[in-house]
Amino acid sequence: MTGSNDDLLGAIRLHGTIPAHIAIIMDGNGRWAQARSLPRPAGHQAGMAAVREIVEGGLQAGVDVLTLFAFSQENWQRPPAEIDALMRLLEEYIAKEAAQLRDQGVAVRFLGDLERLSPSAQRAVDSLVATTAGGANLALNLCISYGARAELARAARLIAEEVKAGRLVPQDVDEACVAQRLYTAEWPDPDLLIRTSGEYRLSNFLLWQLAYAEFYVTPVLWPDFTRVHLFQAIQDYQQRDRRFGRVSL
Ligand code: IPE
Ligand code: IPE
Ligand code: MG
Repeated sequence: MTGSNDDLLGAIRLHGTIPAHIAIIMDGNGRWAQARSLPRPAGHQAGMAAVREIVEGGLQAGVDVLTLFAFSQENWQRPPAEIDALMRLLEEYIAKEAAQLRDQGVAVRFLGDLERLSPSAQRAVDSLVATTAGGANLALNLCISYGARAELARAARLIAEEVKAGRLVPQDVDEACVAQRLYTAEWPDPDLLIRTSGEYRLSNFLLWQLAYAEFYVTPVLWPDFTRVHLFQAIQDYQQRDRRFGRVSL
């Protein structure tokens, strides 16, 4: 890191309020590749390197939970060749990163409809979760084959089954009951949502959990996103007045 990066990290740590949970919509890989006359998968490959960079940045800043949107339910509608390339990259990422993530105390989990993944991708996912289980420095949630509406429908289905089985009564279905049946049950809601590549939309990401997150949109394309950009987003977050519907103190 250069001196100025250290200064920025020092400044955000001095302020003290580091968002415990940061969610990121990692967007812009295709445009990054297109700008270089490269095929779209080359952008996804470069995007994978940015994940390593942001894990490092999260560890340095002292973030507890990083939840990254890597592949949406809607992304299954992309051309098969692009989906194949993304799935190969997922397995490559796991093979390449597992040891380092474990050594850095990063506990990886996958959120989404994983049954749609190929058997070999599912095995790779399971092995990374097992290898990194117990990592105490950072929880890294990778959202793959993820859609927020499907997640909410799944929670409703789980609740309905429990009511039907007599383990739950409808009067007890409250916000906590729903939250406990989401993929994110173990973690607090994100404090900060970052979206790269300048798009101002959620694209079906964490609709429930982002109710009171602070939004930060940057024009930087995901493969170009570095820890310095992450620290800048945290610095911006530190200027926000989070009122949660109340009046400021
Ligand atoms: C984000 O980059 C990665 C995935 C959605 C898999 P895109 O592939 O959406 O890149 P753009 O938006 O086309 O530039
Ligand atoms: C959102 O990006 C999904 C991920 C980053 C994985 P998209 O590129 O799929 O979103 P839209 O299509 O621009 O809304
Ligand atoms: Mg996109």
